[in-house]
Amino acid sequence: MSDKNSENAKLTINNEDLRYSVDKGSIGPDVIDISKLYSDTGKFTYDPGFTSTASCKSTITYIDGEEGVLLYRGYPIEQLAEKGNYLETCYLLLNGELPNQSEYNEFDEIITNHTMVHEQLNRFFTGFRPDAHPMAIMCGVVGALSAFYHDSTDVNDPEQRKIACFRLIAKMPTLAAMAYKHSLGQPTIYPQNNLSYASNFLNMCFGVPTEDKDVNETLSKAMDKILILHADHEQNASTSTVRLAGSSGANPFACIASGIACLWGPAHGGANEACLRMLDEIGSVKNIPEFINKAKDKNDPFRLMGFGHRVYKNYDPRAKVMQKTCHELLDHLGLKNDPKLAIAMELEKIALEDDYFVEKKLYPNVDFYSGIVMKAMGFPMEMFTVLFSVGRTAGWVSQWDEMVEDKSQRIGRPRQLYVGNPGRDYQDIKQR
Ligand code: SDX
Repeated sequence: MSDKNSENAKLTINNEDLRYSVDKGSIGPDVIDISKLYSDTGKFTYDPGFTSTASCKSTITYIDGEEGVLLYRGYPIEQLAEKGNYLETCYLLLNGELPNQSEYNEFDEIITNHTMVHEQLNRFFTGFRPDAHPMAIMCGVVGALSAFYHDSTDVNDPEQRKIACFRLIAKMPTLAAMAYKHSLGQPTIYPQNNLSYASNFLNMCFGVPTEDKDVNETLSKAMDKILILHADHEQNASTSTVRLAGSSGANPFACIASGIACLWGPAHGGANEACLRMLDEIGSVKNIPEFINKAKDKNDPFRLMGFGHRVYKNYDPRAKVMQKTCHELLDHLGLKNDPKLAIAMELEKIALEDDYFVEKKLYPNVDFYSGIVMKAMGFPMEMFTVLFSVGRTAGWVSQWDEMVEDKSQRIGRPRQLYVGNPGRDYQDIKQR
C-alpha cells in the first residue's frame, strides 16, 4: 500500500527542527512515521497501552470509534451479520473479497474436510482435570497442534500458511467442543460433514451418541451471528499478541495459542464471562444503583463489565446486533422474562443516562449482551470466552498472514523508559 505523504510533522528538540512524514490511509486517522526518531534524537516515544500508536498497516478491519462503525474489508458489520454467514466472513477476512458461489462451495468443502483433529489429541484432554477452565485447555491444545501438523508450520511457504489458516478455522470448534465435553465427562461428538459450520459446532457441544443429531435452526443462526460479530477487530490486545508472536517467525499454531491466552483476560475477551458473573452478583434491578456507584468510585476496583472500550466512544455496533439477537433468541426460547436480561436492560438504561458514563463515553460493548445469549443457548459461563476465541480465529489468522506477507514488518521489539537503579557494584553477602 503506498502512502501519499501530503504533509510533514515538525518536532523541535534542543532547538533543532526535525521533520517526519505524515502518512494517510484510505480512511481514518493519519500516522506520523517516527521510525527514525531514536536514530535522529536518541529518544523514544512513550505510549503505555499504545493509545496513540499504530503498530502496522492493514487492509482487513476498520473501526471508527467516534461513529461506532466497524468494517470487515470495507463491509459494515451490520450487513455481514444480517445477510452473510461466518464461513463467508472467514473467506472475506482471509482473501479480501466476498466469495462467489463456486468459491464459497470450494471453501466450505475445504474447511469441512479439516474439522477432525488427530486422534492422539484426545489424550491431551484426559490429562486435564474435569474442572479445568476450558480456556486453559484451549491454550494447551491449540499450541499442541504444532506438534501434529508439521506440514503447515513453515511460515515462509504461502501454501503452508494457507493450510494452517484453514486448519485453525476448521479445528477450533472441534477443540472447543472437546473441551466442553471433557468438563461434562461426556464422550466427544465427531464433526458431521453434512452440517453447517455453526450447526456442526452446536452438535459437537450438545449432541450425545445416544440420540440422533437435532440442531435448532434458530440457535444455529444465533451462534453463526456471534461468530461473525467476534471474527475480527483491528489491532486489539489478542490480535496484537498474535502479530507480535508471529513477528519472531513462530509457527501459526503457537501464535494463535498466544492470542487465546491474551483473550482470556477479563479486560478483553474474558469480559463476557465477567459480565454475567456481575449480573449474578447484582442479583436484582433494585441493587443496580449500588453497583453503578461502585463503578464510579475511584477507590473501588469494580468496573461495569461489558461497558467501555479503548476505541469505541460510541455504542459498539456489535452490541446493537447482539442486543437484537438476544431479544430474538430469548423470545424464541420463551425466556424473555429472563431476570438477567431485565437487569442488563435496566443497567444499560441507567448507565447511559448517568453523567459519569456519558462524560467518559462508556457504552455497552460486544460482551454486554453476548453472555446472556450464550447462557440462553445452554453454555456455562466458562465457555463464553472459548466461543469468542472460535469466532476470533478468522481474524487472528488473517492478521497473522497479512503481517507475514508485509515486507516492512520486522520482529516487534518495543523499548522502555528505564527508571531502575542506574548501576552499582556487586557486594559480597558478608557486606550486605
Ligand atoms: C473487548 O480492543 C478491542 O477491540 C477489544 C474487543 C475486541 O473485539 O477485540 O472489542 C473486545 O475486549 C471489549 C472490552 C471488554 N472489556 C470490558 O467490558 C471490561 C470493562 N471495560 C474496561 O475495563 C475498559 O473500558 C476497557 C479495558 C475496555 C478499556 O480500557 P481503557 O481504554 O484503558 O480505558 P481506561 O481503563 O483508561 O478507562 C478510562 C476511564 C477511567 O476513568 P479515569 O481514570 O479516566 O477517571 O473510564 C473508566 C476508567 O476508570 N472506565 C470505567 C469502565 N471502563 C473505563 N469505569 C467503570 N466501568 C467501566 N467498565
